[in-house]
Amino acid sequence: MTATFPDLYMSPRLLAPGGTPADLATHQQRYGPLAYGDPDGVLRAVAESGLTGRGGAAFAVYRKLVAVADAGRRTGRAPVVVANGAEGEPASHKDKTLLRLSPHLVLDGLQIAAQAVGADEAHLAVEDGASYLEAALARRSDPLRVNVVRVPKRFLSGQSSALAQYISGAAALPAHQDPPVRERGVRRAPTLVQNVETLAHVALVARYGADWFRTAGTPAQPGSALCTVHVPGREVRVVEAPFGMPLGRILPIEATTSAVLLGGYHGTWIPSPEAAQLPLDATTMGAGVLAALPTTHCGLTETARVLRYLALQSAGQCGPCLNGLPRMAAAFQSLAVPGPQGTTRTDIARWAGLVEGRGACHHPDGTTRLVRSALTTFASELDAHARGLCTATDRTPLLPVPQES
Ligand SMILES: Cc1cc2nc3c(=O)[nH]c(=O)nc-3n(C[C@H](O)[C@H](O)[C@H](O)COP(=O)(O)O)c2cc1C
Ligand code: SF4
Repeated sequence: MTATFPDLYMSPRLLAPGGTPADLATHQQRYGPLAYGDPDGVLRAVAESGLTGRGGAAFAVYRKLVAVADAGRRTGRAPVVVANGAEGEPASHKDKTLLRLSPHLVLDGLQIAAQAVGADEAHLAVEDGASYLEAALARRSDPLRVNVVRVPKRFLSGQSSALAQYISGAAALPAHQDPPVRERGVRRAPTLVQNVETLAHVALVARYGADWFRTAGTPAQPGSALCTVHVPGREVRVVEAPFGMPLGRILPIEATTSAVLLGGYHGTWIPSPEAAQLPLDATTMGAGVLAALPTTHCGLTETARVLRYLALQSAGQCGPCLNGLPRMAAAFQSLAVPGPQGTTRTDIARWAGLVEGRGACHHPDGTTRLVRSALTTFASELDAHARGLCTATDRTPLLPVPQES
């Protein structure tokens, strides 16, 4: 590889420089004091900042805060706030990295958000690192006590209704979302579920205001975002980049790169020349995963492995998801093996249409997004496989998939 890896922290708003975790004193020295007491001012600043959620859906943070606060007033029940650090996506490390390096920024944001919606209960949901976070919490004198919740290590654990269910004492499975969690979540109280990175941005907007926030990114998509960058042969890195930055500046996309996976396992494969020019965009970056696929590897094999994992993650509650995802995964696996394909390609595309929008959660939608993009981006590899050929020379698995239990 010839290209140099770009600057690790391009706009280091969230991550402590040098990769050293910031204790409370360092955190306060770096960011200055946090003022409580003006929830309306915070809501105004968040609205003007244009901040969107960093958990995958890029939903406007201000709109969710207002909806939860309103639901609290309407129902007479104080809302619950959940900081979502579950990060069930196996290829994503950004939330774990943020919690390890800048835990107090997330905890500041959690307090600010709780105050803005009038919450009287707060949780921080994580897969790992609970005792480290409990120790960080013990050093603080927060207005609202925070309960650290360990969630099961599963792809679906971080889905908002699954989290609300789990904190309410049930299994961590998505529930039908009418009314949505923001109206009826943890023990039926209005519940604000916000990704931990989103909360870290809230802490900065509360301190420095909307104009400062907008000094990074574009007018339509202000701010920066954390990305987990996978480049073969290199350590997985978490970088912070402003919206609008071409992906080719965030990860090296070279002549030996065939495609880039953008957004994670619910994301899309993009052919590399197109990916290099594509700006970092809140609506397509999903969980912020960027993975370069080298020409030595087969994109169909990589996708088939991920699809098998995703199919096994179905909570099995909705027919189209329970039946459709394993069927698509098995069919895709057959495409990954060079040989006659019959009607498999069109079958997969048809099944994708049948499961899309038919689940209680967006797991089938995200999975079909990945399938469709693989069918398009790897069309020439599919044609080669149909002729019994595969150009891949390296069969080492690249994208991380947890072992099946
Ligand atoms: C299958 C599935 C898994 C999800 N996993 C996570 C997760 O691990 N972490 C996360 O922050 N959001 C996850 N989400 C999104 C959450 O449901 C929710 O939208 C998000 O936490 C809201 O926070 P935000 O508005 O700050 O992005 C997942 C969604 C789906 C459909
Ligand atoms: S769509 Fe799939 S993952 Fe989501 S709740 Fe239904 S069965 Fe579970």
